[in-house]
Amino acid sequence: MRYEQHYAWSILLRLFHWSFALSIVALVVTGFYIHHPWTNTLLEGDSSFPVGTMRYIHFVAGFVFTGSLLARLYLLIFGNKQERVWDFLPVTPRNIRNLLCTLGFYLYCPVKHEIKLGHNVLAGTFYLITFVMALLQLVSGFYMLYPESMAWQKWGLMLGPQQQARYIHFLIMWYFILFAFIHVYIVVWNDIKSKEGLISSIFNGTKYTHSS
Ligand code: HEM
Ligand code: HEM
Repeated sequence: MRYEQHYAWSILLRLFHWSFALSIVALVVTGFYIHHPWTNTLLEGDSSFPVGTMRYIHFVAGFVFTGSLLARLYLLIFGNKQERVWDFLPVTPRNIRNLLCTLGFYLYCPVKHEIKLGHNVLAGTFYLITFVMALLQLVSGFYMLYPESMAWQKWGLMLGPQQQARYIHFLIMWYFILFAFIHVYIVVWNDIKSKEGLISSIFNGTKYTHSS
């Protein structure tokens, strides 16, 4: 078997991936705490400030999340071929075929697995949905953080009053939790089934194609 190495992901994309993933871990943990503080909050304001500290970490992670998302939105248009949105949108006959083949591959059907340097189109479609969810999370988060700001109100009011935005913010957290578990399962499964160096590619940027 001959392997060829290809450069797939720029440094900015890999930085985006890890700052996005790690900020989400911090946001989920602190978000759960803000939703339902699990320590004795009678301590609050005495010797420690657990709710205040958790909120502070949440907002710092929120800014990291925002920065990484902006970088990814830039790459959707100005990134390399694999990073641009057209590469993984299911709108061309080729991409629709790739989406169906990937579904078949995941369902253990005897279809020929198409090797693609960028994301397969099924994954790409879910990444796009994730970016939209991230934008909603960002708008609802900043709307709660700066309730008096006219700019954030303009966007935030589309989600309804503050309480409703907070509830939407809480529900979207579950999307991210589900996504993270399924995503990690699928990348490990893919890494074992198809020898492309998928997981290492999100660290070093390179993937492999092979011919026997
Ligand atoms: C994936 C990303 C995020 C997750 C999973 C998340 C999760 C949560 C959760 C679960 C809550 C508690 C809601 C409740 O009480 O029901 C919360 C509150 C909040 N989040 Fe986020 N969040 C995220 C991103 C952000 C961002 C980007 C910001 C903007 C800076 C932000 C700002 C806030 C604010 C201001 C609150 C309300 C805090 C309070 O009232 O004490 N969040 N978040
Ligand atoms: C151990 C943890 C993780 C590993 C090993 C990992 C690995 C990977 C790999 C290999 C890819 C490229 C897959 C492909 O080509 O389709 C990828 C993409 C991606 N991952 Fe992860 N991931 C991890 C955690 C997470 C978490 C927690 C999130 C967010 C909740 C996340 C969000 C994404 C996104 C949005 C992409 C698309 C990248 C892009 O084009 O913008 N990942 N990940």
